[in-house]
Amino acid sequence: MPVFRPPLFSRVSRRRLLGAAGAFSLALGWGLAQSARAEERRSPTKVPIGVIGAGRIGSTVGKLWVEAGHPVMFASRHPEQLKDLVESLGPLAHAGSVAEAIAFGEVIFLAIPYGALPEFGRTYGPALKGKIVLDAGNAVPQRDGAAIAEEVEREGIGIVSQKYLPGTRLVRAFNTLNYRILAREANRPPPRLAIPIAGDDPGAVEMAAALVRDAGFDPVLVGKLAAARRFQRGQPGYGQAVSAEELKQKLSLSP
Ligand SMILES: NC(=O)c1ccc[n+]([C@@H]2O[C@H](COP(=O)([O-])OP(=O)(O)OC[C@H]3O[C@@H](n4cnc5c(N)ncnc54)[C@H](OP(=O)(O)O)[C@@H]3O)[C@@H](O)[C@H]2O)c1
Repeated sequence: MPVFRPPLFSRVSRRRLLGAAGAFSLALGWGLAQSARAEERRSPTKVPIGVIGAGRIGSTVGKLWVEAGHPVMFASRHPEQLKDLVESLGPLAHAGSVAEAIAFGEVIFLAIPYGALPEFGRTYGPALKGKIVLDAGNAVPQRDGAAIAEEVEREGIGIVSQKYLPGTRLVRAFNTLNYRILAREANRPPPRLAIPIAGDDPGAVEMAAALVRDAGFDPVLVGKLAAARRFQRGQPGYGQAVSAEELKQKLSLSP
């Protein structure tokens, strides 16, 4: 029976084609691996987070990040008191001093009484330089004192926080809603609850937005730090348990 032999040209072409296909798949594989690695670097799926102030809001949001797969160190001036909290959250949760949590965190979540901010900034400012700091504090006159509350009214809370935390990549976030609402509504079916954010550093804002999503909410960028005034205590963006679309409407932001 005659064996079909393709003409030389087509045999060479086929070899070339197979070679080219192999090289293409190798390149594709390499490209995919590279972009996966780049994605890994970009994605905040495993960002170490230091939560300073593991009280109501700190422990609530920190827990949501642990559940999303982030390693979190909860800080207290008495870290031994956080034993039950971190044990209940599993191996991604740690307890430490404030200094340890700052060293641990690529991102710091600041959830302390606002009146403590000036002293906190003086003590830990050098360690915080260059860090992304998500600041959830609110100035409450009865708790934090009239002086700092008036300063916030006058200058806007984003500007005041940055003044006390110079050199940090500050983003205002998670200050507008009660911790019980955050615990209850995180990761609810769409539309998810909106969390307004504001910051001057685009990379820090991007990270904050990703961490808001990871906690189970939709970020709404209100603007630069000066615009954080629009969702500080007593302002229209404060206390709004609404979707991103509704919050944008309330604050006349583009959809
Ligand atoms: N509660 C809410 O629903 C909510 C919502 C949005 C925003 N906020 C704001 O978030 C901040 C925290 O509120 P919170 O209700 O979570 O308060 P909290 O339950 O009293 O917790 C505050 C934590 O801050 C730590 N702390 C206090 N003074 C400190 C200092 N000088 N230096 C370092 N850490 C200090 C305390 O930890 P140790 O004593 O263990 O060190 C405490 O666990 C406030 O500014 C508040 O306005 C609260």
